[in-house]
Amino acid sequence: MKVCIPAEINTEELRVAATPKTVLRLIKQGFEVFVEKDAGLKANFSNQAFADSGATILGSAKETYETGDIILKVLAPSSQEIGLMHKGQVMLSYLWPAQNPDLLNQLSEKGVNAIAMDAIPRISRAQKMDVLSSMANIAGYRSVIESANYFGRFLNGQITAAGKVAPAKVLVIGAGVAGLAAIGTARSLGAIVRAFDTRMEVAEQIESMGAQFLTVDIEEDGSTDSGYSKVMSPAFIAAEMALFKEQAKEIDIIITTAQIPGRKAPVLVLKECVDTLKPGSVIVDLAASTGGNCALTKDGEIYTTDNGVIIVGKLSQLPSQASQLYGNNLCHLLDDMGKAEKFVIDMDDDVVSRAMVTHQGTINWPPKPLPVSPQAKKVAQEEVVVHKPTAEELAKQKGKKALINLCLIGLFLVLLGFVAPKDFMQHFTVFVLSVFIGWQVIWNVSHSLHTPLMAVTNAISGIIVIGGLELFKNVNMTLPLVILASIAILVASINIVGGFFVTHRMLKMFKK
Ligand code: NAI
Repeated sequence: MKVCIPAEINTEELRVAATPKTVLRLIKQGFEVFVEKDAGLKANFSNQAFADSGATILGSAKETYETGDIILKVLAPSSQEIGLMHKGQVMLSYLWPAQNPDLLNQLSEKGVNAIAMDAIPRISRAQKMDVLSSMANIAGYRSVIESANYFGRFLNGQITAAGKVAPAKVLVIGAGVAGLAAIGTARSLGAIVRAFDTRMEVAEQIESMGAQFLTVDIEEDGSTDSGYSKVMSPAFIAAEMALFKEQAKEIDIIITTAQIPGRKAPVLVLKECVDTLKPGSVIVDLAASTGGNCALTKDGEIYTTDNGVIIVGKLSQLPSQASQLYGNNLCHLLDDMGKAEKFVIDMDDDVVSRAMVTHQGTINWPPKPLPVSPQAKKVAQEEVVVHKPTAEELAKQKGKKALINLCLIGLFLVLLGFVAPKDFMQHFTVFVLSVFIGWQVIWNVSHSLHTPLMAVTNAISGIIVIGGLELFKNVNMTLPLVILASIAILVASINIVGGFFVTHRMLKMFKK
């Protein structure tokens, strides 16, 4: 089977749908690979590099489209490119099917089996093919790097001989793949990061990355079964905008990533909010191509507002890296479709049936819904829980349990006192009480103090070992005593060795 990679005709597009590395992979999958001359130049891949990987270089787009059983592309094909395709050809590229009904008509009329890489469903199995995620990850990283470039200050706080520098404050709106990548990058550069999203399930992820999760006083969750968020109510959007305007008094950099797939991006940062920002602040709008989250964004432009705020509506691409990840996503999908030898369009497959938007002359859009967000399900399950005890109620319950235990132990001791010898009772009472108190004390030690606690228990275990060894000196050792002393030495030794082992592992975690 022949896989062909044409050059992207859009001059703004720097990526290419294959790299020398992914060509090697395609050949390993059993495909013959053909690349249009100069297709990789803008992404820094020479014709020679493709040829060295085993691809054949073709002289023109016409030849490339005519040769291929499978066409790998980045951007949706133009009418002119569709004209070069033939019936039964498989084509993989971005298509944005919800926004491009005409394109779907043209492709189906031509009999092209077109896979929209942007329509891969969000299920765990398909993560490796998800171009939206791999590209969003790059965009999130890049948004911080570029905002830092336009922002005329450090991102991290510093105390220098010349004076103290406060860290920059970054607000990330929308904590999907791009938003989380931006949070991670901004945090690693030392900025204070705040983030907002309509899906409550991301709160934990935001906080685990060291950012602050902002909320509004309206109970509405944007999560849906598709993994994407839904359109929020006007009241919610109004509350959000008020929050961002309030935050704008302190924030230095705003990175917006809020999107609703298949729709125009919600406008969340209004002119009043931009006016509130300090001169020199930066807004990077990653939703610029779908209308922008900021009312003043100009798609494809970077400009400074009258009050000195820089609004970035265009990011420079990382074409080599982006092509590599995009190419990997394509290879994963071809892997799943049976590679060259067993290549099949399986319309019963969850991924192929949803991403194959035109098949054998028919349009296969919109796809059947596929519930995919395990997080959303988790939230639904949690809602079933009727009442969660408060910390006070938990403490009360704990106290009650302790009292019952104490009463039971007391009762047992009284009953034992009737039958056991006096000497034994004295030692036994001390033993039982010390076990009980020890249990209560250790149970209440906070997790952060478990390492010093282990040191103390090791010391106590040491005393037990010495006690056990001392017993062996006794000339009147009876068999029960030997057994008891041996058990004490064995258990205490296990505790000591285990303690050292665990401590060693914990210390290793802190070593670079
Ligand atoms: P996206 O690019 O469609 O949206 C970006 C973010 O904007 C989302 O987090 C969304 O909740 C948020 N947003 C929408 N409207 C908003 C508003 N009015 N205010 C503030 N924020 C708003 O989403 P993305 O990044 O492509 O992914 C969303 C989620 O999908 C991920 O967090 C992940 O849970 C899931 N996912 C699952 C995959 C899989 O299992 N294969 C792959 C990728 C993502």
